[in-house]
Amino acid sequence: MIKAVFAALLALVSFGFAEAQSPAEHPIMGWNSWNHFGGKVTDADVRSAADQLVSTGMRDAGYVYVNLDDTWQGKRDANGIIHPNERFPDMKALADYVHSKGLKFGIYSSPGAKTCGGYEGSLGHETQDAQTYAKWGVDFLKYDLCSYQDDMEKIREAHPDDADAEFRAMIEAYRKMGDALKATGRPIVYSLCQYGLAEPWKFGPQVKGQMWRTTDDISDNYYRMMLIAYANVPIASFSGPGHWNDPDMLEIGNGGMKFSEYRTHMTLWVMMSAPLLAGNDLSKMSEEDRSLLMNREAIAIDQDALGKSAERIWQRGDISFWKKPLADGSTAVAVVSADASPRDILLDLADAGLGSGATVHDVWSGKDLGRWPVRHAMRMEPHSAQLWVLRK
Ligand code: GAL
Repeated sequence: MIKAVFAALLALVSFGFAEAQSPAEHPIMGWNSWNHFGGKVTDADVRSAADQLVSTGMRDAGYVYVNLDDTWQGKRDANGIIHPNERFPDMKALADYVHSKGLKFGIYSSPGAKTCGGYEGSLGHETQDAQTYAKWGVDFLKYDLCSYQDDMEKIREAHPDDADAEFRAMIEAYRKMGDALKATGRPIVYSLCQYGLAEPWKFGPQVKGQMWRTTDDISDNYYRMMLIAYANVPIASFSGPGHWNDPDMLEIGNGGMKFSEYRTHMTLWVMMSAPLLAGNDLSKMSEEDRSLLMNREAIAIDQDALGKSAERIWQRGDISFWKKPLADGSTAVAVVSADASPRDILLDLADAGLGSGATVHDVWSGKDLGRWPVRHAMRMEPHSAQLWVLRK
């Protein structure tokens, strides 16, 4: 009896420990192969990305996950075990290499029979795949809906009077993999990617997800990036330690936006406590890319212990004002202009709860700007963002 009580207590304590050690207590940071390499990614690309995360200083800035996206899969053997394709000769060796650099290794699959790239998905092999990943030393799984949408369509046709049937099935498909990952005993961050269908910010934690995409894919385009940021406004309160809204990967450094637009991208992502997954070619990082991706103060806002996603205080035309409380009692504040022309504005700090004015630190220049009265007149340049930390 005493033995049983002791065992139960031990289980409780170790469960608490495992929970406290959740690998996604903070929004996860790393690099993903998709935005730059797409379907051509190879073992050598992943190894050199790992090398470059170290040599660029990205790892030491916090970017520790090296996430291999779609198109690594080969065939299943007679026992149903998944094997990588010829571009990935030895997945365990690749994971070991990534780990040897002080980094973590992420992989990708789908609850459907096929991934979005048409490669082998996990349908019917969830437990087996989770175990294979754990054996390889995988630390992160992005689980992308892809061909499971065909299964959902069939369910829709079979149940014309039950509008939710397809979504219940989808949630169960995600739960299956969540349970399978948990059963491996290895802490594997579980990242849901189903483009915001059926509000994953509500069911995500129940299927053991730690982050979930909130929208369709980002692209390297200012308007697409802004649209995604705006779409995340109403669901900000669903994000928090261990369960993060994921507005998709970063496009910084991929060439489709101007510097001030990429700065807006980083500003909004850190204000939203978004997972920060760089998607650029790390071998060609410009000084500008580095200054955005590796700004320690911006990263600290993203990773802040409170884990609050910013509230958009107001949106007036193309100008918006955002605030995010930080663990030390200060407030991160952003002003964003999506206007194509310069705009003169009068900011009222009382809107951000600082009715007696504030001491202002500018994150992007790293400078203290002194004490501001409650009203602050300023000019916003086209497609730009300001990011400050304010203290009463
Ligand atoms: C999309 C997903 C992208 C990328 C791609 C790979 O569905 O949203 O982030 O993973 O599939 O095929």
